[in-house]
Amino acid sequence: MIRKYTYGKPFQTEAVVLQQKTESGALPYFQEIKEDGTLTLTYEMDPKDVVYGLGENVRGINKRGWIYESRCMDDPVHVETCHSLYASHNFFVLSGKETFGVFVDYAGIISFDIGYTHLNQLSMTPQESDMDIYIIEGESVLDIVRQFRELVGMSYIPPKWAFGYQQCRWSYMDEDEIREVVKNHRENHIPLDSVYLDIDYMERYKDFSINEETFPKFPEFVQEMKDQHVRLVPIIDAGVKIEEGYDTYEEGVKNNYFCKNADGTDFVAGVWPGRVHFPDMLNPKARDWFGKSYKFLLDQGIEGFWNDMNEPALFYSEENLNNVFAKLGDYQGRNLDNDIYNEFLGMIHGLPNNRDDYKLFFHNVNGKMVRHDKVHNLFGYNMTRAAGEAFEELEPDKRILMFSRSSYVGMHRYGGIWMGDNKAWWAHLLMNLKMQPSLNMMGILYTGADIGGFGDDTTEDLVMRWTQFALFSPLMRNHAAMGTRYQEAYSFDNTDTFRKIIEIRYALVPYIYSEYMKAAIKNDMYFKPLSFVYPEDEHAAQVEDQLMVGESLMCAPVYTQNATGRYVYLPEDMLMIKAKGTEDYICEKMTKGHHYVEVALDEMLLFVRPGHILPLVKPADSVEQLDTDNVKVIGYKNQAASYEMYDDNGFTRNYDLDKNITTIKVSADGDVEVEGAKTLKVTTELY
Ligand code: NOJ
Repeated sequence: MIRKYTYGKPFQTEAVVLQQKTESGALPYFQEIKEDGTLTLTYEMDPKDVVYGLGENVRGINKRGWIYESRCMDDPVHVETCHSLYASHNFFVLSGKETFGVFVDYAGIISFDIGYTHLNQLSMTPQESDMDIYIIEGESVLDIVRQFRELVGMSYIPPKWAFGYQQCRWSYMDEDEIREVVKNHRENHIPLDSVYLDIDYMERYKDFSINEETFPKFPEFVQEMKDQHVRLVPIIDAGVKIEEGYDTYEEGVKNNYFCKNADGTDFVAGVWPGRVHFPDMLNPKARDWFGKSYKFLLDQGIEGFWNDMNEPALFYSEENLNNVFAKLGDYQGRNLDNDIYNEFLGMIHGLPNNRDDYKLFFHNVNGKMVRHDKVHNLFGYNMTRAAGEAFEELEPDKRILMFSRSSYVGMHRYGGIWMGDNKAWWAHLLMNLKMQPSLNMMGILYTGADIGGFGDDTTEDLVMRWTQFALFSPLMRNHAAMGTRYQEAYSFDNTDTFRKIIEIRYALVPYIYSEYMKAAIKNDMYFKPLSFVYPEDEHAAQVEDQLMVGESLMCAPVYTQNATGRYVYLPEDMLMIKAKGTEDYICEKMTKGHHYVEVALDEMLLFVRPGHILPLVKPADSVEQLDTDNVKVIGYKNQAASYEMYDDNGFTRNYDLDKNITTIKVSADGDVEVEGAKTLKVTTELY
């Protein structure tokens, strides 16, 4: 059951697609406290209550013990004391003495103090009390999540090739460098489906332009890559370069499509190209225009994009920069003692992403000027919506890959996200795991983190362990920052090990795709915390380093350097697969409970649930080359099991669950029956 409560006059975020009427009574569960005009809603938690959700954030699957703030920020240092990352995901489920879900639909800044100020108190404090709050009750945590997901609409579906392995670096500078990356994968038989174009493919960082010196024959090059089953995926940035004669700039100025200063002139900030204007993503006309601009690249054969810097990140605002320059002279020649030196540094460090700068510009929302900071969290969402809506018009029969850095609830209908600028830290491998189910709760199913870590120099073992986990992520992309060690799968000594790990991903693609599609269509989660599947099991709620992956599998990666094994908790008897590769693995039946399992650096673990089977195919160099008609299933002897495998052409937008399911049934005697959409040849391996 969903109930909606309205405070003040909320800005319509359009996160919700199933409209609810506002209740007249008071908000249940919470106590309202108003102090100095600030509203705080508090709930007394039981010490055993668990809080799930809040999407992209630091810390645990259980969010207790910290204060989180919804304020989309470009902060590349994701330490555990961060209050916000790139997103605003105001949905959580409290599970325990009382179980209910809360979605605060609010475009501004809001904090969730979950046992930070008082160990057993949860409180929510919005900057201004204009918001819709939805209270969701249901039979279980998962049921509450499903209701929320129905409320906010179906998740985005990428093309099937986007379930392959993807390689990125800031930046592969020209055609030849990309050819080399592809060649190295192909020669080593490391599967690969796409290579990313970071900001340097553009001419002086101008959106919807190509650097003709480094990419002289772009459409031909796009095709050359496609002939090798590799898609190129260019980045699009939020800021549009200010440059006379540049069409995107000229059109935006002429039509008033850019965010404005209070005096009606176009707001100027600095990002990669230097001075930019921000397209007014909240103005429907500007959004339509910006979205249609992607056509420039679609027309050259591009089939996927990533939207970046859309918090929006700003290196400086022109206004603040001028103020700083004006003050600089004051410091020259002075004795910069501790206080003055810190003041001086603070002034410089205060330039990027300055909170006050977000108060300087305005959006035109159907004729009304709205100050940016009041709707700050909607910018990235609407940039991606711009693209998503345009793709539906421009390419009605085709899925286009799209994911964003910044997001708000509702954006999951138009694209996925990647988890931004993580680091080559072991802690970030574990954080990647913990974030996955929280993001799935928001409806963001197409997601993953930069494998190996984006910032800082990585190590071979970290990339290896990370790849072993990330092969379960719908978005499986290796990406690194400029200046860091090269970390492509062939850059290290043990290329064969990397090939074998990535091949496991390709053997799993039909399962991963099938589970993704079912989760998207049925408003379900692809990655779940163990406790969502085993709610009665008290231990399961304690497990923060294993995840359920679709209906048949559990993963338990090694995320500690030099570890040659790990503890695993099995909430029921399971079949363990310890794999070095698709031809090199052992299976062992294990009993419910705690186990220590040896896992060498080149090995990984997956677990098959009883009553379930795992379908696998032979790996290939790309998703398109997989033979999905010949399937091997791994399962249990003397136990009947079946699997509903979803498959379709992977390109068009008709996702019919009934028409695209093939059911594989394995009887207790080991006989196989296949029914439904496809005729499959199935072999079994039962234990
Ligand atoms: C920031 C993004 O998070 C990162 O992935 C990208 O490589 C850089 N911008 C450069 O475009």
